[in-house]
Amino acid sequence: MSSVLSFVSVARLDELPADRGLRVVVDGVGVGLYRVNDAVYAMEDACPHAGYPLSEGQLDGCVVSCDAHGWPFDVRTGFDPDNADGFPVPCFAVEVEGNDVRIDLAHRINDPRRRHDASNSP
Ligand code: FES
Repeated sequence: MSSVLSFVSVARLDELPADRGLRVVVDGVGVGLYRVNDAVYAMEDACPHAGYPLSEGQLDGCVVSCDAHGWPFDVRTGFDPDNADGFPVPCFAVEVEGNDVRIDLAHRINDPRRRHDASNSP
C-alpha cells in the first residue's frame, strides 16, 4: 500500500563470497552486494559499458572488474578508479544487523553527476 521504500532484507552476510559479488534483485532492480573486510556495499548490477552483471567480475580489494571487457569500478563509490571524468554506477545504502544484509534502493549514496561537474558547481 505504501510506496515509500526502506531497508529490505536481501541476503545473509555469510553467503557473500570473498572474491566477487552476490547478485540480488530488489523491486526489479539487479544489485550486486560486495563484502570488503567488515563492510558490505551495494552497487547496481549492470556495467555501464554493455550491461554485463558486475557481480560476476573479480573483486580485488574495493574494486570489481567487469568480466566482459575488464572495466573496473570501486564498489564504495561506483566510480571507475582510473577515470575521474566518468559517471558512477548507482550505489545504495546498506545495513547489516547480525547475519542480515539490508539495502535501501531509495537511498542512493553517490552523486549521479560527473566528479568535475560536482566539484566545479557554483
Ligand atoms: S560490459 Fe562491462 S566492460 Fe564491457
